[in-house]
Amino acid sequence: MRKKVTKAIFPVAGLGTRFLPATKSVPKEIMTLVDRPLVQYAIDEARAAGIKEFIFVTSRGKSALEDYFDHSPVLEQELRRKGKKDLMKVLKSTNMDSGAIAYIRQHKALGLGHAVWCARRLIGNEPFAVILPDDVIAAETPCLQQMVEAYAETGGNMVAAMEVAPEKASAYGVLDVKEDMGSIVEVNGMVEKPAQGEAPSNLAVIGRYVLGPSVLQNLNKLKTGAGGEIQLTDAIAADIGTENGVYGYRFRGQRFDCGSKSGFLQATVAFALARDDLRDDLSRYLRDVVQLENAAE
Ligand code: UTP
Repeated sequence: MRKKVTKAIFPVAGLGTRFLPATKSVPKEIMTLVDRPLVQYAIDEARAAGIKEFIFVTSRGKSALEDYFDHSPVLEQELRRKGKKDLMKVLKSTNMDSGAIAYIRQHKALGLGHAVWCARRLIGNEPFAVILPDDVIAAETPCLQQMVEAYAETGGNMVAAMEVAPEKASAYGVLDVKEDMGSIVEVNGMVEKPAQGEAPSNLAVIGRYVLGPSVLQNLNKLKTGAGGEIQLTDAIAADIGTENGVYGYRFRGQRFDCGSKSGFLQATVAFALARDDLRDDLSRYLRDVVQLENAAE
């Protein structure tokens, strides 16, 4: 029997420079999509996939993130006193069990691979998930759940894959496909941020992974790769051709790059339009804006 995936790493130690000056004091993962911080979407997705241990790789200046997961007795008491049951329910849904979350420091932003490696002792010899909270995925079945279910069938290392336009491929890790089996593809190679026109396919890796412990061993040996960073992609690619193998998983859902301003704004609109309490007002406003824009052209 394959071991169940019950641990997830959330690498949140990056500097978030694309959101300066906000990220001078607010961690990117605490920025809110409608009324919930990015990290809450990531936690909910992990829970739906059966994750029980949540490992955050943090850095200096991320204390707001740790505070967010604490219970808030004063707030809860006040809401109870005022009879605000709905809000109490919302608040309670964000509480985490004692001992479910661990925080590990990455002392220097040496790259995503290095951030994952920092959590190696908490993972031990088990499969694990990695979730990048700034990739937010709207999906009927949460993306990580889809992947964990596929992993139970296939094993190996699994990376979430998404089709991108050729001119966008150089912003991603791109899969060299050995065999396309539909929702799962077997991978021959992975190229991090290929030069224009040199991407081996249009399948790009995004921020969800289900990995075996061998990837941590590969990270032990790794030197810096593209962009002077220790790349997770390289450590995963080192398993290609071994008994573990690497698979891309074409998830069903829409991914928003909330690490970029434009992606964050698009996600804000999409998530707000999906809410009963906001849809009417917002869509009316958007229609007006578009009409004005068209009239001005
Ligand atoms: P990004 O490439 O988005 O970098 O990292 P960033 O620092 O968060 O943001 P910008 O580019 O400066 O605006 C992708 C993910 O990897 C984590 C980040 O926190 C983010 O979740 N990461 C990156 C680390 O934890 N440590 C690192 O050294 C690098």
